[in-house]
Amino acid sequence: MQATAIAQPNIAFIKDWGKRDVERNLPAVGSISITLSELYTEVSVVLSPELRSDELFVNGEENQPMLPRISRCLDNVIGAQRLRARIASQSNFPIAAGLASSASAFAATTVAAASAADLSYGTEELARLAGQASGSAARSLYGGFAELKNSNDTINLIALCEADSWPLQVVVAITETGPKPTGSTAAMEIFRETSPFYASWIEQQDQDLEIARHAIVQREFAQLATVAEHSCLKMHSVMWASRPPMVYWNSATMRCMQTVRRLQADGCSVFFTIDAGPQLKAVCLPEDAEAVSKALAETPGVQQLMMSGLGPAARLVSKT
Ligand code: DP6
Repeated sequence: MQATAIAQPNIAFIKDWGKRDVERNLPAVGSISITLSELYTEVSVVLSPELRSDELFVNGEENQPMLPRISRCLDNVIGAQRLRARIASQSNFPIAAGLASSASAFAATTVAAASAADLSYGTEELARLAGQASGSAARSLYGGFAELKNSNDTINLIALCEADSWPLQVVVAITETGPKPTGSTAAMEIFRETSPFYASWIEQQDQDLEIARHAIVQREFAQLATVAEHSCLKMHSVMWASRPPMVYWNSATMRCMQTVRRLQADGCSVFFTIDAGPQLKAVCLPEDAEAVSKALAETPGVQQLMMSGLGPAARLVSKT
């Protein structure tokens, strides 16, 4: 009873921040994202009657801190009375550093666990299960552009546009590889409990989603750029206004933003987005990718660049 799955991280253009139901991990707002092609997490799950407890290996090393969350994800997918599991996860990019590693890790874990247990869920159900483990993981069950919609007591996912029908490029500028100071789950709760802007953040989300959805369907890059940067900066504003404040940027993050502004002034079709970490993701049209990566590589404080196009949905790679 062994299965291996691969999932790519996704990056939200219209951000998810805040939870309406902490117990079931339901997001406070809908979101729109792209799934990447070059970054990935591969997870294998072995269910065995010989194991006395779950075991987790991340990039070849046993990992205790992340085990309870992974075990909960397996309980949710398979049922609490399941066999114990050995889970091994391998990523080709820094984890827990604001690069959406929890999205790819939980999407791949959900697909691998369901298959190892011979459960045949549909994609939407797998997305809901992945989303219970980490909100953004639900979106990695879809390739290309995906929208997560809040409905009454659950979430629905919609494929907005295939990966190859609008081949945007993403240049990830890594400015720090250490783990972030506060994980998203805890930071979202601090936000809900303390931010004076919680209600207005939620109130305006539908409007941003509508603009982004329209821009994607019409391939309107400039419109998408404006609303995505707005959503990103609004999310970081509400983070800064939480108590204690959540500041994920460093000085190199700011310098990367200035680089993107300079590229825009020079006529490049590029915009930035930043998640709960100090890395900047520059999204651009393919013809501008070289200029964008060159400018970001030359920006002081950038340690590494990763380039990616848009990628496929989480999927099973082997089962025995
Ligand atoms: C800033 O999906 O990491 O990346 O459900 O608590 O694991 P949990 O939250 P998570 O939140 C993602 C926050 C974000 C924005 C986004 O991806 O929409």
